[in-house]
Amino acid sequence: MQTLRIAAILALLLFSQVLCRPQSSDQKDDDYPGDGGKDYEDPEDLEDSDIGRGTSVSPPVILTRPLRVRVSVGTTVEFPCVVKNGDNEVIQWSKGSEPLYFGGAVMTTEPDRIFLAANNSLIVNDVTEYDTSNDWTCTVVMQPPLEIHHSLQVVNQPTQLTEHRSLAVWPAKKITVNESMGVEFGCDSQSKSRPEIKWSLKGKAIAEVPGVSSKNNYVFIEHATRHHAGVYQCLAEDRSASPEHEAIEVVVNYSPFIEVEHDTFHTGLGIISEISCEVDAHPHAHVKWFKNGNVVPQDEKLHHHEKNGKTLHKLIIEHTRKEDLGTYKCKATNDLGEASKDVVLTGAPAKPVLNHGKDRHNQKAHMIRWRVQSFSPITEYKLEYRMKGNENWIEVQPQVTDGQENNFVVESHFENLLPGVYQVRLLARNDFGWSPQSSIHEFRKEIVANEAQNVKGGSSTTRPLAALTALLVVSTRVFTCL
Ligand SMILES: *[C@@H]1O[C@H](CO)[C@@H](O)[C@H](O)[C@H]1NC(C)=O
Ligand SMILES: *[C@@H]1O[C@H](CO)[C@@H](O)[C@H](O)[C@H]1NC(C)=O
Repeated sequence: MQTLRIAAILALLLFSQVLCRPQSSDQKDDDYPGDGGKDYEDPEDLEDSDIGRGTSVSPPVILTRPLRVRVSVGTTVEFPCVVKNGDNEVIQWSKGSEPLYFGGAVMTTEPDRIFLAANNSLIVNDVTEYDTSNDWTCTVVMQPPLEIHHSLQVVNQPTQLTEHRSLAVWPAKKITVNESMGVEFGCDSQSKSRPEIKWSLKGKAIAEVPGVSSKNNYVFIEHATRHHAGVYQCLAEDRSASPEHEAIEVVVNYSPFIEVEHDTFHTGLGIISEISCEVDAHPHAHVKWFKNGNVVPQDEKLHHHEKNGKTLHKLIIEHTRKEDLGTYKCKATNDLGEASKDVVLTGAPAKPVLNHGKDRHNQKAHMIRWRVQSFSPITEYKLEYRMKGNENWIEVQPQVTDGQENNFVVESHFENLLPGVYQVRLLARNDFGWSPQSSIHEFRKEIVANEAQNVKGGSSTTRPLAALTALLVVSTRVFTCL
């Protein structure tokens, strides 16, 4: 895996070397020792996903964000300028009105100190206070030109003095992006000891956050999603008891996302019905409810409250009538987009569930108890079972008894089953229709000691179904709630 990755990186490096090297790139690029320099993003990282995407038709863009750097006298500074689709364009560097490089042409009077790397980065060695400028500009010469301006502040302070406060965040302590945009940010340690920068988001190491990568002191998010929002902590691991740390808050604006815990709500006539949908959006979404394409009038029937940064929107119907049943749509809208989801308000029974999920069995019978919620009396049950592997279900109709409040209990007894694995499922019906099908429950009928002789070693699952059903007596009984 690691070897593969290294091979891929090497391939990319070669690729970008071929593509990105300015026409008359200077040989001394490769001599740059890189000491004391900062570690900025590698263009290879940023271009990873673009290779093979057919970039020739797209206009050039500068991927690098403006840097604001504050360093001490004598430091080496690198100003990156990563240009996507810019292979045929001339890159110009200048400081204020002073030209430094134009394509491969050297214009600066200090080419030994200020030089252009093959990756378009401008590298300034041994900075002095005269290098302080808000206008270190990289320009892609085209019509209209593309530019970014880096700023550099060189302070005349021995490094020791800045040591205790040497962790700087870039580009800001709070960054706001729209979803699917790229984000990059970093923490720069100007400490001489060059501590390792460790990143985390909500207590998780950055490597565990999907879609986020980090390299040296920088974090890259290629396509921001709502899951990337939060406070990123950077920690300068210097093995001391109180390592320096900083935080960068990333705010992601994203279009609404609707989560419905239940998409069907069960109710009955004359009672209060409540349907809801949970909306996750930033900024907050405006929510409207629709029924059959018409907006449900917005009055006191609508409620919403916050929950873990999401908003639960409820539609409450005080006294449910038959015409209130049906399919509703909740539609959430904010500046970035909209989302909608259908939820059903029905009078039919809810999906039957196993009671405690526990079966009771003795030597003769196997008993399964189900629970069904219904706001109208149950009129009918349909229980189906089969030996696992058989195609056809055997249908029985458990007897209906009264429930307590809205809860109905069904007990089904299976007697004299042959050993094997069985599957069983249940449906319930009231005046409004059938419930959803329960999940399939499986149970095993064990070989009981005195039956074992009858089984004669043959695997019971291979016996024909006819033989099985002939032997089978099923009694289902229903008890009122305990
Ligand atoms: C650009 O090249 C220089 C010199 O080879 C290197 O030190 C630097 O890390 C590179 N920068 C980026 C952004 O790849
Ligand atoms: C983010 O999205 C909003 C709404 O669509 C738009 O007005 C704004 O310009 C976008 N911001 C950026 C940085 O793209």
